[in-house]
Amino acid sequence: MESPLTSETALASLAWQIELGATEAIGDAPVNRYDLPDKTAQPAARPPAQPATTHEIAAPATTAPADGDPVADAQAAAATATTLDALRAALGTYPHCNLKRGARNLVFADGDPAARVMIIGEAPGRDEDLQGRPFVGRAGQLLDRMFAAIGLSRGDANPETALYITNISPWRPPQNRDPSAEEIAMLRPFMARHVALAAPDLVVLMGNVSCDAGLGRRGITRLRGQWAQAYGKPALPMFHPAYLLRNPSAKREAWADLLALKARLEGGSA
Ligand code: URA
Repeated sequence: MESPLTSETALASLAWQIELGATEAIGDAPVNRYDLPDKTAQPAARPPAQPATTHEIAAPATTAPADGDPVADAQAAAATATTLDALRAALGTYPHCNLKRGARNLVFADGDPAARVMIIGEAPGRDEDLQGRPFVGRAGQLLDRMFAAIGLSRGDANPETALYITNISPWRPPQNRDPSAEEIAMLRPFMARHVALAAPDLVVLMGNVSCDAGLGRRGITRLRGQWAQAYGKPALPMFHPAYLLRNPSAKREAWADLLALKARLEGGSA
């Protein structure tokens, strides 16, 4: 029997499911359902304890959790990385973070690693996962405009006015949910090492997840604009650009924070 779906409708249906947040197929291998036993037929007469045959449906594969302590293993893996490329590779082989399973790409960083300012966001969204670069969707475009307004850009060749941009999670979480407390705890050693290797003068903590990882605190409305220390660097918590897209009136505070950042960079006290 022919499938009632044309290739166009099948593709459109798949795109729609991805849009709704579906991140994986139920089975890795295609199943020819015409080869499966007919469930409507009378049960065959056979002993109940007969072992499974290859014609029966296999139980879904379960992924056994990796052995070892996720945070201790993250600390050990991060500590061995002496370059940013090695750190990216260490994340690639780190076995404990389930976020990796639903993501297309490991989104490591963008911009100039020598930049004075390092921006730490939350996690890739759909556009970032597809392109393998952080902050390239609508929120990222706003982020670019915000920092351009104080003369900083990820594409700038001069480290004085360049940006280096990364996220707490290098993998897109399913349905764009926040990374959990456990995921943040296991990704934090990688971020601490990332900051140590890039050695910026300042870090910007974009939103609550980034403040949670860097400061152990949430509550961006109170934290924003207050200089703190994260990963051994002066750190400025700011509203996440995705929040600013939903709450344009908060752009006034974001602008004040950008000016504070610019003043700190120019004052040489950074
Ligand atoms: N939001 C983030 O926190 N990071 C991205 O890369 C994109 C959206």
